[in-house]
Amino acid sequence: MNSVQLNPTPSTARTPLNSFYFPTKNRRFCGSTIRCAAATAKARAFNITLLPGDGIGPEVVSVAKDVLHAVASFNGITFHFEEMPVGGNALDLAGVPLPDETLSNAKKSDAVLLGAIGGYKWDNNEKHLKPETGLLQLRAGLGVFANLRPATVFPQLVDSSTLKKEVAEGVDLMVVRELTGGIYFGKPRGFDKDENGDEIGFNTEVYAGYEIDRIAHVAFETARKRRGKLCSVDKANVLEASMLWRKRVIKIASDYPDIELSHMYVDNAAMQLIRDPKQFDTIVTNNIFGDILSDEASMLTGSIGMLPSASLGESGPGLFEPIHGSAPDIAGQDKANPLATVLSAAMLLRYGLGEEDAAKIIENAVQETLNKGFRTGDIFSSGKIDLGWYCLFQKLVGCKEMGEQVLCSIDSQKLAATQILIKFVVEACGGNADS
Ligand SMILES: NC(=O)c1ccc[n+]([C@@H]2O[C@H](COP(=O)([O-])OP(=O)(O)OC[C@H]3O[C@@H](n4cnc5c(N)ncnc54)[C@H](O)[C@@H]3O)[C@@H](O)[C@H]2O)c1
Repeated sequence: MNSVQLNPTPSTARTPLNSFYFPTKNRRFCGSTIRCAAATAKARAFNITLLPGDGIGPEVVSVAKDVLHAVASFNGITFHFEEMPVGGNALDLAGVPLPDETLSNAKKSDAVLLGAIGGYKWDNNEKHLKPETGLLQLRAGLGVFANLRPATVFPQLVDSSTLKKEVAEGVDLMVVRELTGGIYFGKPRGFDKDENGDEIGFNTEVYAGYEIDRIAHVAFETARKRRGKLCSVDKANVLEASMLWRKRVIKIASDYPDIELSHMYVDNAAMQLIRDPKQFDTIVTNNIFGDILSDEASMLTGSIGMLPSASLGESGPGLFEPIHGSAPDIAGQDKANPLATVLSAAMLLRYGLGEEDAAKIIENAVQETLNKGFRTGDIFSSGKIDLGWYCLFQKLVGCKEMGEQVLCSIDSQKLAATQILIKFVVEACGGNADS
């Protein structure tokens, strides 16, 4: 076998994380020229690359675009959207799954919102001509090494979870997965023969210190924006790469005295996620463990159509996308649930642009839409839902109607904010706002 090689490093990989933007109180990692400049009160105009992709992608991205427009007018933000091909539609248009123009446009923008790629039509293509290859090229091209996947059980959808209500209720956790290193990329890898002439297949789990440090920083910053608890998951009782992982995470922890750090072996973490998921706030882990645990965590919520994700790098735009695929079985039928993409747009605002208020408005609008009982087919169940404080009847709607309802909820938040403002101004002028 060849000697072990580290994963390919981007040119910026060894720079400290001062180019990583997280809109935290101390702003220690706020150095990205694009994002920080854009996030000031003066310049709040953002270029967003939209990659609708295939299948239900265009349907759900169209809803998310309208939602971003609505929230922008509310918050004094201007968005410039540019739509580019990726995946199967790019293959049809340009013969490749990620045209150069798409990548260069995405790199120049402030954030990228992706729908989904793939479909039956391209399933038998050669690997380099598969839509999925375009997605991997996009992630690599943007250098996004940190994948953030929240798993939130909405109270309105608690019955969709396969877990008992008392276990699933209130689950709100975030998995921070290292995305560009570890065994999926480590070398040597391949097939060979052993000394007896039998076939072997081999891969290499390898992490360099800087790769662990940068994902640890992302995770600590993420925990700081949540409930301040971080659990690092590894297999440090067996694997050297995990031993280094734990050592470096502990070292980075000294920069975050306000965050409560714990460690857990991956086999136990897999069990605890099912046994008592509420114990977790933020989880940080390597590529392969994160792949498995984030899928497991997402299933706690019971609904793939509700789950957003963010992939972030050290500099440049983040990539925001629902975790679901292109759902070719329901594409073009107005049946898709757009909320995972709408919530991805909220993550884009929070983690990509530092627009926390705007992100909250979108999340509140999604909650209100669910509270009113609107459901796409994937989250619909007939009958009454008892929310404790009131009962509601569900209304089955399509993708477009669900989007309209989210926009209505944003409008009502606008109206309420305007009324408060008028009341404040009238009272400040000595009048009685209620009369
Ligand atoms: N990130 C991506 O773009 C991505 C991720 C996974 C799969 N894919 C691709 O998507 C295609 C289909 O893959 P799959 O069927 O394994 O996974 P999928 O996520 O597309 O669909 C799985 C099931 O969930 C349903 N579903 C998914 N999203 C939904 C939504 N928003 N609303 C309602 N129902 C929804 C589908 O109808 C289907 O029954 C394949 O070509 C695959 O390669 C792409």
